[in-house]
Amino acid sequence: MNVDALLATRTRNIQASAIREILKVAAQPDMISFGGGLPAPESFPLDLMPELMERVLSGCGARAFQYDQTEGFGPLREALTGFCQTKGVPARAEEIFISSGSQGGLDALGKIFITKGDAVAVESPTYLGALQAFNAYQPSYINMETDGDGLIPESLEDVLENRKVKFVYLVPTFQNPTGRTLPLERRRRVADIIRRYDALLVEDDPYGDLRYRGSPLPSIKSLAPENVIYAGTFSKIFAPGLRIGFLVTTPDIGRWLVLAKQGVDLHTSTLTQALAAEYLDGGFLERHLPRIIQLYAPRQAAMLESLERHFPSGFEWSRPEGGMFVWAEGPPGLDTHDVNRKSIEEGVAFVPGRYFFTEPGSGCATMRLNFTNSDEDTIRKGIRILAGVVEREL
Ligand SMILES: Cc1ncc(COP(=O)(O)O)c(C=O)c1O
Repeated sequence: MNVDALLATRTRNIQASAIREILKVAAQPDMISFGGGLPAPESFPLDLMPELMERVLSGCGARAFQYDQTEGFGPLREALTGFCQTKGVPARAEEIFISSGSQGGLDALGKIFITKGDAVAVESPTYLGALQAFNAYQPSYINMETDGDGLIPESLEDVLENRKVKFVYLVPTFQNPTGRTLPLERRRRVADIIRRYDALLVEDDPYGDLRYRGSPLPSIKSLAPENVIYAGTFSKIFAPGLRIGFLVTTPDIGRWLVLAKQGVDLHTSTLTQALAAEYLDGGFLERHLPRIIQLYAPRQAAMLESLERHFPSGFEWSRPEGGMFVWAEGPPGLDTHDVNRKSIEEGVAFVPGRYFFTEPGSGCATMRLNFTNSDEDTIRKGIRILAGVVEREL
């Protein structure tokens, strides 16, 4: 059978993830990997699971195993209103849409908003998985400029002034891949701009709760509630395998999201939604989140100290107050693809930053370094080895 002839044109356009091969190599045993973006397995609250499951079984019984509403399990939507409030994200239960990971939410947004050729404005660099979700609907991308503080608001204004954009996609807090956080003043300006242009902004915030230093910043959603869809997830504060994400949207957009999701999976797993509801309602998150932070903060400190100690001059890197990534940039002319090939031979892998840019030729001297998945000693050793490779490549 000629499968190629059967494939839809849009399917043929889907590209295999460019970093899949790199991540495969990075996952080899004995490799020190700064490559993946996985939470540490020891960050999962396995010790709390029996109690959580017991509460679900006694509280929900068969309901936790039944079909449920597409928009989400009622108790979880209720619990999320309180959780969102603690994060300064205004959300009523009827504005919350539960998805299978926030990735499922990004796909649903692509599905309802993007017609082939529509423009989506993204930071440069941006989260690769969002591009993958949107690509299925064949948008074009408009890149907005960034600096060490994230999106440059003037670049957003310029895009909205001159182009017709379906929506703007941003990860304003501890961004993947750069770890950058948009400062308060810029958040205010971004909120003001999208309100003035009556534009829609998707604020993707999987990392905001992983804060190791400094004070939380208001979400853009709180500054322009009617123009922002906020995307959150339990992947980094509970466990990604449960696949629970959510959007805080508006009821009129939510209606379309529900129709789109009905055709995909009817609803996200009732059982894992019930576990997530208990995780919030029973105070488990409050008990467990500090443990995740205690695990990651020293890992990040070890990475930043080691970069300082070993990396050659000519390099700069982000110093995020949270999240899972540090972004390093070498001098022009350095090709971090070559660096990665050579560092893999010495047992250290990372992701060359170029893959997070939509325009070819950008970010050749950049690298994304994940620090959540190795202990401090391994991080110190890995950065020392990587620094040696980089030095030789300069
Ligand atoms: C910025 C960003 N958005 C969304 C996701 C998707 O997460 P999940 O589908 O597990 O909620 C990730 C995962 O790493 C991410 O980095």
